[in-house]
Amino acid sequence: MQKKWLLGVILGISLIIFGIIGVLYNPISKDNLSLNPNTVETPNLSENQQSGPSNNSGNIIRALPIPKLQEDIDPDPNRSEFNLVAQEGSSNFIDGKTTPTLGYNGNYLGPVLKVKKGNEVTINVENKLSDDTSVHWHGLEVEGANDGGPHQVIHPEEIWKPSFPIQQEAATLWFHPHVIGTTATQVYYGLAGLIIVEDDNSLSLNLPNEYGANDIPLVLQDRRFDDDGSFVYNDNMMEGAFGDKMMVNGAITPYLDVDQRKMRFRILNGANARNFNLQLSDSSQYYQIGTDGGLLEAPVTLNTLFLSPGERAEIVVDFSRYSKGEEIELRNKNTLIMTFRIGDELVDNTVIPDVLNEIKWFDESVASTIKTIELDGMGHMVTINGRQFDMHRIDDKVNLGDVQIWEISTIPGMMTSNGHPFHIHGTQFQILSRDGGEIPDNEKGWKDTVFIGGTETVRIIVPFNYKGAFMYHCHILEHEEAGMMGQLEVY
Ligand code: C2O
Ligand code: CU
Ligand code: CU
Repeated sequence: MQKKWLLGVILGISLIIFGIIGVLYNPISKDNLSLNPNTVETPNLSENQQSGPSNNSGNIIRALPIPKLQEDIDPDPNRSEFNLVAQEGSSNFIDGKTTPTLGYNGNYLGPVLKVKKGNEVTINVENKLSDDTSVHWHGLEVEGANDGGPHQVIHPEEIWKPSFPIQQEAATLWFHPHVIGTTATQVYYGLAGLIIVEDDNSLSLNLPNEYGANDIPLVLQDRRFDDDGSFVYNDNMMEGAFGDKMMVNGAITPYLDVDQRKMRFRILNGANARNFNLQLSDSSQYYQIGTDGGLLEAPVTLNTLFLSPGERAEIVVDFSRYSKGEEIELRNKNTLIMTFRIGDELVDNTVIPDVLNEIKWFDESVASTIKTIELDGMGHMVTINGRQFDMHRIDDKVNLGDVQIWEISTIPGMMTSNGHPFHIHGTQFQILSRDGGEIPDNEKGWKDTVFIGGTETVRIIVPFNYKGAFMYHCHILEHEEAGMMGQLEVY
C-alpha cells in the first residue's frame, strides 16, 4: 500500500520534470527556424561602409564568397598533393566588427580539394592551433588509419600526412575536425571544407562544371553573434547549438550574381544541428542530381530539399526562366539564406542529362548481418543502443568485404528528439526503406548520412570495404560530442 503511494509520487514528479523538458524542447523544434527579430544586430554604418543594399535585418549584404580551389603541388597528373593548415584567424562578418575564427589556409572555412577517381592523394595537414585537432574526410572511402577520426589526433605544431587512392565515384564530400571534446566548437568556429571528386562519367555529362562560374559550392551554416561580433556557441539546447543568422560560405545571407543559365550548386549542410528545407522564393522547381556519395541515376525534380547536418546534395537551377534584374531567394522555409540576382541572357551549352549515373543496387540477400541501432535521448543524455561512446571500446567487429543491413531507429518516448542525422565513416550506403515504405527518389543514391526522424525506423544496406576503426554517430555535433557515437572495426 505504502509502496504504491510512493510510486505515485515518483510518477508525479517525473511527469512534472518531463513537462518542463517538453516546454524547453518545443521552441527549438525542426519547424521553428525563423530568425528572432529581437536578436538581429543593427550596426551603425559610416557612409562609405554602406557599399551594398542592406536587408531588413540591418546587415550589409555581401557577395557570396567562393572558396578557392587548393593548389595541387604534385606535377604528376595521376597524383595530387595538398597542404592544409588548421589555423586561428579573424573574420569580418558583421560590418565594423571582428569575429575570432578558425580556418584551413585562411581565416574561416577552408579551400576546396578537387581530386579525380584513380588518383593517389597526399595531404599535409598541419596543426597551427593551440589545441589538438584532427581532419576527418567525411564520405571518403579510405582505410581507418587515413580517416582522420578521433584516433588520428594532430597535436599543435604537428603535421599529419595521410596518403590514399581515390577509389570512389564523383561526389561532393567534406572535411572537418573530429577530436573528442572539441569537434563541435572547432567546426562552429570555422573548420570545414569541401572535397570535389570527379570521374570520367561526371566529366563526360556536360553538366555545369566550371568551378566558381556555373559550379558553385554552398556551405550552409547558422551562427549566433555577441554584441562585440564574436561567435556565441550555445550548446545548452536539447537539439544542439543553433544560430540566428544564416551564413553561406562564411557570409551572412549573401547574394550571388547569376546569368540566365543553368547553375550547379554543391550544397553542404555544415550546421552543427540545424536541418534545412531549401526552397526558392517563387516556389519553383529545380533538379537534384547528386546525393552525399555520387550522382543520382536520373535528375529528380524538387521544390523543397531537406538536408540534415552533414548531408550534401548537388542541384541544378535553371535561371534562364528569369529576366534581368529579378531577385530570387534561396530560403530555409521562410527564412532568407541567400539571394540570386539575375543578370544577362547567356548561351548555355550545358545540359541536365536524363541519365546521370548507373548505380549497382545491393540485393538484401547479400547482407551477412542485420544489425539494430537505437538512437535514444536528447540534449546531453544521448546514447546508441543504450551506451555512450567509449574510445577504448569497439562496438562492432566487421569482416572486410561484409555487407550489412542496419535498422536504425529513434526510440520514441518522452525524451525523444526531433530526429538524428546518422552517419557512418569510410563507406557509402544505400537506403532500403523508411518505416517499411518507399524512400523518396532523391534518396535513391549513395549516402553516408541519413536523417532518422523522431519516431522513424530506417533500413540501410552498407558495405565495409576498408580496414580499420571507423566511427558511426549522430551528426548533430553536440549529440556526437555527448556520446551518441559508436565505433566499428573492419578487419
Ligand atoms: Cu562528418 Cu564523424 O563525421
Ligand atoms: Cu564522417
Ligand atoms: Cu542526434
